[in-house]
Amino acid sequence: MRDFDENNITDAVIDRFANTPDTRLKTVMNSLVRHLHAFVKDVEPTFDEWLFATQFLKRCGHISTGGREEFILLSDTLGVSMLVDAINHRMPAGATETTVLGPFYLDNAQEMAQGADISMGHKGEPLYADVEVRSAGGMPLAGATVDIWQSDDDGFYDMQKEGGEQYLRGRFKTDAEGRLKFWSIAPTFYPIPFDGPVGDMIQATKRHPYRPAHLHFMIAAPGYETLVTHLFVAGDKYLDSDAVFGVKQSLVDEFPRRDGGTAPDGKAMTGAWRTLNYSFGLAPKD
Ligand SMILES: [Fe+2]
Repeated sequence: MRDFDENNITDAVIDRFANTPDTRLKTVMNSLVRHLHAFVKDVEPTFDEWLFATQFLKRCGHISTGGREEFILLSDTLGVSMLVDAINHRMPAGATETTVLGPFYLDNAQEMAQGADISMGHKGEPLYADVEVRSAGGMPLAGATVDIWQSDDDGFYDMQKEGGEQYLRGRFKTDAEGRLKFWSIAPTFYPIPFDGPVGDMIQATKRHPYRPAHLHFMIAAPGYETLVTHLFVAGDKYLDSDAVFGVKQSLVDEFPRRDGGTAPDGKAMTGAWRTLNYSFGLAPKD
């Protein structure tokens, strides 16, 4: 076939995938072509605009080295990550809601003992956390693997800094009662990296790049769906305009503030500090 025009080219391209043996791949390619062509027909880009689009993607690739994940950031800021998350996590009652993984997870976080301080001495308001991991049905899950990561007091993750030091992240195991106690610092709001193409998009559209203060959790236990979520700090000014659309009300906690006194583990405290108590529920694997 020849003489393709705007009325017949979409079907012609879809036809070209007719012999794809992998039926899932065929479905994906057909839908991608149909929606991409519909987008182009809707927008009617000029050649310069289409070239700009291809260069934008090229820039996303070029800046994605080491600890930088521009395509995850693009997916996050367009709400696609949360849409994929919603489709894949239609949760049973009692299960904690999920949210974005984000670009700052490391799969080789250092293993830490109960009661350890993940701040590794970095400045910030001390936070004492006592959380528990249960099944959605309420059964305590002993030995669950809990990954925690968060930004520092200046709004950066360790992997955004030079030197490669791991801090404000760690991997723990829950105790026999499914509980985990650890020290950290109170998280603060921070901007997503906006010195690249995604940042240009944020600025050109007069959006802001901020995420409300949160701790990241990834919790895994045999027989259960791995939970990827955050806990957000109540009162943060960006809770209703998170740059990546990740906030769910059930994940917002007060992080109550104390002044001096003695921490639950017997540590004498001076000045302001915060506490976190939360019960996570894991959905069974189906
Ligand atoms: Fe984060």
